Amino acid sequence: MITGKTVVAGVTGRPVTHSLSPILHNAWLAAAGIDGVYVAFPLEGDGFEALAGGLRGGVVRGLNVTLPFKERALALADDATDIARLSGAANVLVFGADGRILADNTDGAGLLWAFRSQAPDWNVASGPAVVLGAGGAARGAVAALVAAGAPRVSVVNRTLARAEAIADALGDRVVALPLDRARDALSDATAVINATSAGLSGQGKLDVPLEATPAATVVMDMVYKPLETPFLAQARALGRTTVDGLEMLIGQAVPSFEHFFGQRPPTDLDVRGLALKALKS
Ligand code: ATR
Repeated sequence: MITGKTVVAGVTGRPVTHSLSPILHNAWLAAAGIDGVYVAFPLEGDGFEALAGGLRGGVVRGLNVTLPFKERALALADDATDIARLSGAANVLVFGADGRILADNTDGAGLLWAFRSQAPDWNVASGPAVVLGAGGAARGAVAALVAAGAPRVSVVNRTLARAEAIADALGDRVVALPLDRARDALSDATAVINATSAGLSGQGKLDVPLEATPAATVVMDMVYKPLETPFLAQARALGRTTVDGLEMLIGQAVPSFEHFFGQRPPTDLDVRGLALKALKS
């Protein structure tokens, strides 16, 4: 039931109509009995600043921001959390009643949530991690791993200069390597995270020697369409524990929900099952 007091939050991006976020948030709202609603605000053109800037004041409580607007979301905000600044991007904007906009980035928290949920024996502080890719998604993952205590994070990318830019921005625990030297970093990795767009349905395959990883290495892909990417299938065939991008999506939604609706979402709801159903339809 929508009432005069319904709290509104939503998600914007391009494209956004197939976003799973409305399904997750609205299921949690219903289960918690919160008078709120979460909708998609599609942006066909380039009106991101007009949309987000126009929401100053808090009539809409907050927005999740997805591709390609995450960097611009951070730039637009008046205040930002440390992790959003380190990530160089925001996936959450909160509109304060005082007119200010707060940017946060919960993608890294989502990544760590996914590891806790699907690879509970893995410990971020126990050894080096490898992030494949050097775009916005990769930078967020590196920032989260460093902030959580990873002793070393190798950023491996086809274009070395982009990996070096991340290493320069995020400190001396981060090292950059070209893709053809992936093996060097993989051989002592405790976790390998694919943050490239390779593996997305219809995109090229990522060619890395996953067999060079120790048997206990956990392998993750941020892509969740398909849920089992060729990269995760390769890891599973090698007997590695795998973590998928859908669990990360759910994990980033939890602190987003808290920003928008002021409480943790209920835990007794199978939102993963709902999301899987929506992915199949
Ligand atoms: P995002 O901001 O979503 O992370 P992006 O900036 O387009 O997206 O970055 C995509 C990443 O995937 C890049 O690291 C890209 O490598 P380059 O920087 O060399 O372009 C990587 N990538 C995409 N397709 C790839 C492929 N087939 N093999 C290896 N890397 C690939």
